[in-house]
Amino acid sequence: MRTPAEIFDEAKAAIENADDPSKTEDLRIRYLGKKGEVTALLKTMGTIEPQERKAFGMQVNKLKQDVEALIEARKRVFADAGKQSKLAAETIDVSEPGKIPAAGTKHIITITIDEIVRIFAGLGYSVIEGPEVETVFHNFDALNAAADHPSRDMSDTFYITEDTLLRTQTSPVQIRTLISQKPPIKVISPGRCFRTDTPDATHSPMFHQVEGLLVDEGVTMTDLKGTLDFFAKKMFGADVRTRFRPHFFPFTEPSAEMDMSCFICGGNDQSCRVCKGSGWIEILGCGMVHPNVLKVGGLDTDRYTGFAFGMGVERSAMLKHGIEDIRLFYENDIRFIEQFY
Ligand code: DAH
Repeated sequence: MRTPAEIFDEAKAAIENADDPSKTEDLRIRYLGKKGEVTALLKTMGTIEPQERKAFGMQVNKLKQDVEALIEARKRVFADAGKQSKLAAETIDVSEPGKIPAAGTKHIITITIDEIVRIFAGLGYSVIEGPEVETVFHNFDALNAAADHPSRDMSDTFYITEDTLLRTQTSPVQIRTLISQKPPIKVISPGRCFRTDTPDATHSPMFHQVEGLLVDEGVTMTDLKGTLDFFAKKMFGADVRTRFRPHFFPFTEPSAEMDMSCFICGGNDQSCRVCKGSGWIEILGCGMVHPNVLKVGGLDTDRYTGFAFGMGVERSAMLKHGIEDIRLFYENDIRFIEQFY
């Protein structure tokens, strides 16, 4: 039988060599477990001479305590090491610059619509939207368009059925408004329009317009000119001047196109890219609402008059930001989009 001292030496060497917690636990069981070597020694007490029994008992108890202490110490080493490596792994460098999460931005078309709408909202206009799938009635007939107007042609417009189409302009919102509201009417309506144009630098089969309509008693062309001149100055700069050229639209009479003085060269540069040296930039269509249109809303045309206007959103954005190709708006190339925060 091995002596307590022999067992201790062997246990000490084994425990100090145990290189992980589970080997340490195996050693605990091997020496101190129910069938362990120290336990077995205790069970031999009965075979010891009575006069030696007390001393032997003390030796074995001491052995048991010493082995327990070695095991505990070994386990603590592993626990401390685990804590250290966990701490090391979780170290936070508080001086490291934060990571900025990639946030989206509004598309420049939305930004431009918001700008236009905000200017008119400041003048008391409310914003309404109309459907993109329209009836021929709202898009053409009620807007006083002649039956043989070229834009009504199957090849110029995306027809869905014989009497429904993708609206070619936001002007049908005028009709919906006149039918559903009573004067004073003051609305602005942004939205998508569709024409069968082949895409090039200035044409796209889908584009955006903003429509405006004001109807009340005593509204004159002066109100129209003052309002749109104010708009141009807010949108493109306080120095901008405007002029109105006679034009034709079926739903207004008289009708005009509004030009603004070139906000790039001020009319002083013969080679200006933006105004092509003319000093003027065409910016929108407008006019006094045609009596036939007011009648669709059941209005007394002796009592009520109004003005309307419509402008291209892409065109405004291209002018304002020097964008040279309309197709850039829809390619969704992030390098283009993120320029307009
Ligand atoms: N709807 C016209 C177009 O697409 C633009 C327009 C012109 C709108 C004159 C109007 C207006 O309200 O009065 O070309």
